[in-house]
Amino acid sequence: MESAREFCIHELNDILDGERKILKALEEQIEECSRPELVKGLEAHHGQTEKQIERLEQCFEELNEQPESVECKGVKGLVEEHDSFMEEDPSEELIDIFNCGAAIKVEHYEIASYEGLIRVCQQLGLREVVKLLNQNLKEEQQMLRKCEALAKKLKFAELGMEEEEEIRQPRRRRAA
Ligand SMILES: [Fe+2]
Repeated sequence: MESAREFCIHELNDILDGERKILKALEEQIEECSRPELVKGLEAHHGQTEKQIERLEQCFEELNEQPESVECKGVKGLVEEHDSFMEEDPSEELIDIFNCGAAIKVEHYEIASYEGLIRVCQQLGLREVVKLLNQNLKEEQQMLRKCEALAKKLKFAELGMEEEEEIRQPRRRRAA
């Protein structure tokens, strides 16, 4: 591999495989999680991820290329991390906390991947591809913010932290 275009196509294939792996992982996480807010968030992102895969396929059409099999080792590693955690037979509460954190890690990974690919595509003048990739990037950024807000609410019951109290305080401060 030598050219920027080859690099771009390689990275596009990598992200496509990553998104497909994430789609499968989300299905598992939706089954595993118990907190309704978390399940709802994951379900919404599952729908978004299906659209993101379609947009990536459109990128290949724009480039007159066929997707090829490239394994996204980064997402593969994150999925393996999840699987080995689940082998520890965690409680329902811990599964929610882990999966919320795992979603945050995935989003950071995806955001960095999209940003890098967008930079290359901009240099190559691939406007339509950049537009499509930016839509995916925006959704990942929204999902990251959603998961971060949710992670703040997920407390360890054994530590006796009152969730309601934690949420109410900042609101009171804002109103003052
Ligand atoms: Fe995604």
